[in-house]
Parts: sequence; structure tokens; C-alpha cells
Amino acid sequence: MATVISVGNMKGGVGKTTTAVHLAQQLGRKGKTLLVDADEELQCAVYWRGGEFEGWTFDAIPFREFAPEKAAGYEYVVLDTKGNEQGNDLVSLARGSDLLVIPTKPDGLSATGLIRTLTPLVDAGVTNYRVLIVANVGGRGEELRDALAEQEVPVMTTLVRQSTAVGDAAERRLPLEAYTTNRYAKLVALDYGSVAREVLNDVR
Ligand SMILES: Nc1ncnc2c1ncn2[C@@H]1O[C@H](COP(=O)(O)OP(=O)(O)OP(=O)(O)O)[C@@H](O)[C@H]1O
Ligand SMILES: [Mg+2]
Repeated sequence: MATVISVGNMKGGVGKTTTAVHLAQQLGRKGKTLLVDADEELQCAVYWRGGEFEGWTFDAIPFREFAPEKAAGYEYVVLDTKGNEQGNDLVSLARGSDLLVIPTKPDGLSATGLIRTLTPLVDAGVTNYRVLIVANVGGRGEELRDALAEQEVPVMTTLVRQSTAVGDAAERRLPLEAYTTNRYAKLVALDYGSVAREVLNDVR
């Protein structure tokens, strides 16, 4: 059976697709990986993955083409979601996954979205989720991480730094590690390497 890692948050624009794509790219080095994309808007994971670059380590399909038998032969399945899920959708998502990763940016608006996202999970007694702070800048991520940990919210140690390289790599349909003309891209790619190690530690 494949290990299923879903990426969700009730709020949009918090780094779900960036996280799903790079988590899949990192996991793809460890075992055969399938990314299932429940978002079909522009700049979705399938689009990002679908350029001419040949070094992608994972396969990607839209959710409408997914059926459980499609996961056969894969060690990891990463699910990118839309970001308008209701609370009980996220609870089902977590229950259907080995781990739910909840990316969030360290700003006030995202924090509001995060509370909306976490409340139904806590109420339902779900525990297999981790908050991941992305687009960290100027110590804000550390601050948020410590505040969450203090409230006993499960939060990843790794912080993904903020860089315009993320949007530029998506536009070029390249993984961050292959966007070699921008030296910050490599650093963000390394952050996601560290995220993948934490995820693997959690699901083992
Ligand atoms: N580490 C980062 N540094 C800078 N910008 C980032 C970072 N991660 C994500 N972004 C930017 O934030 C925006 C939203 O990211 P992304 O598309 O991954 O989020 P999403 O949650 O999938 O959004 P949606 O809800 O629209 O699907 C994009 O413009 C992306 O380039
Ligand atoms: Mg998205």
C-alpha cells in the first residue's frame, strides 16, 4: 500500500501546490511517487510538472483521472487540494491519508485561515497532521512556529524560506533545484528536502 500524504488548508494561496510539487519531487528520489492534483486552475501541480524539463522524479495526474487502482506500484502518493474545502472535508482527507501537511504563511491573514483549518481537526480528534510554515522571512516563521508549539499544535521544525524564485520556477515549469540561474531557488529546494525528511520520519 502506498503512503498517502495530502496537502491542504482551508485558505487559498498558502503554498499548497508549491509544497505538493516539491514534496513529490523529493519523495520521488526515495520511491516511486504519484502526485494527484485536485486543483485544475492555472499554475496547478499538473501544469507545473507538465513542462519540457526531464528531471522530474514523479508522475502527476488530475484528481478526476484518479482511481484507487491507479496508486498500484507507487510507494508514495501526494495529494494537492484546492483550498476551499470545508472542515469535514479536511477531516476526511486526514483520515484517508497517512499524513496531512498544512502549509501556512507567517502572516496575520494566514493565521486566521489556519485556525479555521485546525479547529475541525482538533474537534474530530484527528492527530495525523502537521503545520508547515512556508515563505518565512525576517524571523516571523520562527515566531509563529514557537507560538504554535507552545499551544501544542503539531508544527514542523523546518521552515521554508521566502523567495521570488518559487513563483519564477513555477512560471518556467521547473522544480526549484533545476532553476539554476537563481541561487535562492536551490536554498528553497534544500528546505523542501528537509521537509521531506520530517514527513518520512512522521509516517514511518
Ligand atoms: N516559499 C515561498 N516563497 C515565496 N513565495 C511563495 C513561497 N511559497 C509559495 N509562494 C507563492 O505564494 C503563492 C501561492 O502559492 P501556491 O500556489 O503554492 O499556493 P496554493 O495554496 O496552492 O494556492 P491555491 O489555493 O491558489 O491553489 C504563489 O504565488 C507562490 O509563488
Ligand atoms: Mg494550489
